[in-house]
Amino acid sequence: MTATWSVNTDIFQQNAVKVKNNQPIMAVVKNNAYHYGLAFAVDQFLQAGITTFSTTSLREAIQIRQLAPDATIFLMNAVYDFDAIRDNDIQMTLPSLSYYYENKHHLAGIRVHLEFENLLHRSGFKTLAEIKEVLTDHSKNSEPKMIISGIWTHFGYADEFDVPDYDIERKQWLNVLNTLLDEGHHFDMIHAQNSASFYREGQVVLPYHTHARVGIALYGSRPYSSLNEDDIIQSLKVKANVIQVREVQQGDYCGYSFAFEATRNHTKLAVVDIGYGDGILRSRAQHEAIINNKRYPIRALMMSHMFVEVDDSVQAQDEVILYNNYMRIDEFTFKGVGANSEQLSAMNHDSLQKEYC
Ligand SMILES: Cc1ncc(COP(=O)(O)O)c(C=O)c1O
Repeated sequence: MTATWSVNTDIFQQNAVKVKNNQPIMAVVKNNAYHYGLAFAVDQFLQAGITTFSTTSLREAIQIRQLAPDATIFLMNAVYDFDAIRDNDIQMTLPSLSYYYENKHHLAGIRVHLEFENLLHRSGFKTLAEIKEVLTDHSKNSEPKMIISGIWTHFGYADEFDVPDYDIERKQWLNVLNTLLDEGHHFDMIHAQNSASFYREGQVVLPYHTHARVGIALYGSRPYSSLNEDDIIQSLKVKANVIQVREVQQGDYCGYSFAFEATRNHTKLAVVDIGYGDGILRSRAQHEAIINNKRYPIRALMMSHMFVEVDDSVQAQDEVILYNNYMRIDEFTFKGVGANSEQLSAMNHDSLQKEYC
């Protein structure tokens, strides 16, 4: 009996096709494809007709090139290993004026995408004027030089509904983009939308955009709660096992540091073989687990175990579900446990048994 992290490959594939919606998608596969496995995800997305990938790490970008020789690969972080970028035909962000002026000679032959900073303030040109400055300097440069193949931004507020920030960042971006297009500039690749923005726009790519840059929806989690559960399907299941069922009495403290105090006699606690050492977040353990199709409250979380308060129907060796399509990662996101990607990233793939089935 070992706690298991497993992905149903057919469901993963069906979801990728459903999310893609016949639109041009750039699959975000950073952080080991949101911890689903880079090689697995790239293979699945290729089968779903997605041939453009993006990540933040050069190491992963090179891995993608090995996995998908014909793919278009976009690196969202600027790096300084220019030979590796060129050798692996990786397109890269152009993140600031200073980076451009300091590195324009090194960038010769490299395809770059001009990045607009917008409201996130993580990276990118601050204004339309800065972008135009680069375009002008670049057009006058007669030495071997970079190729401006794209332009992009990231919407940091697309999953926020009670504030005007998505509308603001969207408007600012469209203003920059449309001005440049009206002035006759051409970009082979134009991309801005993450999952939330893609769905907010009706699961379509914004006008003039060549791609939506989608991550979490492709991995089966909803970016915001008003989406229907059937729209995005979770292929991941995390399950553990009841090792034994123990009885405790009113006033007994159970778990480390008085974690749970039994409030009545004959309280039944299932001891389950999964804990924070396997990647179950403490905030997740404030909620329930499913045993024999019924939800039971988790009472205490330890490194390799948890206590679940159960009834007489639960027995040793019963399966305990922490995540599946009926107890989804996104359910707990919306309950405040942590971002979808935070829960996914926490899983310990060295201690959990990992299966693709
Ligand atoms: C720059 C960028 N684009 C796209 C994405 C994909 O976002 P999501 O997973 O919400 O679709 C991310 C994710 O963090 C990102 O940082």
